[in-house]
Amino acid sequence: MAALTSKKILLGITGGIASYKSAILARRLQDAGADVRVVMTDGAQAFITPLTLQALTGNPVHTELLDEAAEAGMGHIELARWADAILIAPASANTLARLANGLADDLLGTLCLATRSPIFVAPAMNHQMWAHAATQANTQTLIERGVTVLEPDSGHQACGETGSGRMPEPEDLTQQIIDWFARGGSPDQSHVISHATNLANKRVLITAGPTVEPIDPVRYISNHSSGKMGYAIAEAAAAAGATVTLVSGPTQLSTPPGVTRIDVQQANDMLDAVLSHVPGSDVFIAVAAVADYRMAAIADEKIKKNSDEMTLTLVKNPDILKTVAQRADRPYCVGFAAETEHVEKHARGKLLRKNLDMIAANHVGQSDAPVFGSDSNALDVYWGDDGHQHIARAPKNDVAAALLAIVADQLNPT
Ligand code: C5P
Repeated sequence: MAALTSKKILLGITGGIASYKSAILARRLQDAGADVRVVMTDGAQAFITPLTLQALTGNPVHTELLDEAAEAGMGHIELARWADAILIAPASANTLARLANGLADDLLGTLCLATRSPIFVAPAMNHQMWAHAATQANTQTLIERGVTVLEPDSGHQACGETGSGRMPEPEDLTQQIIDWFARGGSPDQSHVISHATNLANKRVLITAGPTVEPIDPVRYISNHSSGKMGYAIAEAAAAAGATVTLVSGPTQLSTPPGVTRIDVQQANDMLDAVLSHVPGSDVFIAVAAVADYRMAAIADEKIKKNSDEMTLTLVKNPDILKTVAQRADRPYCVGFAAETEHVEKHARGKLLRKNLDMIAANHVGQSDAPVFGSDSNALDVYWGDDGHQHIARAPKNDVAAALLAIVADQLNPT
């Protein structure tokens, strides 16, 4: 099987002399098994015609944002969703500046805002333009937003000068895309410029943080959950237009803007707070690390350390998520799972056992991939019989936005 079989690549071509290589690039991507569709900017069409790319790819070339015929076929949002990856090659200095500023007045800019797939840019321009502080700052902005920059080569340029700014050869670019997919999306390279997630008019209920189960007036049972992932999801849901209620165990975090927070300590309190908000909720996302057990009876006085051994009698806490997911008026239920091995098998098992709609699995126990207290995370998200999406390691805010984009897609299928 070819390395890019069943991968859908949107090739963006912008205005630069290197665009003559884009025709070969389209071919190389197809040779690797990819389904290629092409978007060309006005500038690109001054160098190479859409007809060439149409003939090579066998698909219509997309050039216009406001084109009734194109929108009736594959519209810009549909195109943004279709792509497994967007590769812009060559990416002109103008395009880098436009993407860095989030401009959406042409088809390519709009697609880059609307997609949640990874974006790759292969800058190609005169070496002075590439070295210019403005271009470098724009490129840096894109990198910080998770866009992967495929570095230009050095050498003789079409302008007659020599320096860095040549678009790498099509074979090279194709190999970089193949390698990226083979790695399952490299760390910090999977997130995208923006997410077009819309949760307007949705009520989202979220649990986050640890619970604290008292032993006596001074001691307790708890865990290392920082609450960062749940808070990031609450913030992203509010940013996507949802009305968000966050039921939180004790954390060091401040309440995200626009979010209503209810503070709780014990699992039973968390359950009560959640159940009182389930009616009317559209989505329930359980991120809290609920303590599995609590004391059978909390001691009224501080327990004395008179003997060398002590036995505490614990009873099981309620499973908040499972309780919600079994109700007749259940919202769309999303759970989290921390797995050390056989991630898909165990996560899917939990999906069924708890009667969930979706589960987001962390692969824990890898020393290079901490979860607790970390600012970044990676998830494998499973839903339905065979739904799966990998969200590669990225800041928790970006992972939260990517997860909500999947939830929104499932809530509002097109
Ligand atoms: O069973 P396990 O603890 O692995 O399940 C994890 C998922 O279930 C998380 O989404 C967590 O928030 C939720 N959960 C819960 N109440 C519990 C235990 C877990 O809501 N008592």
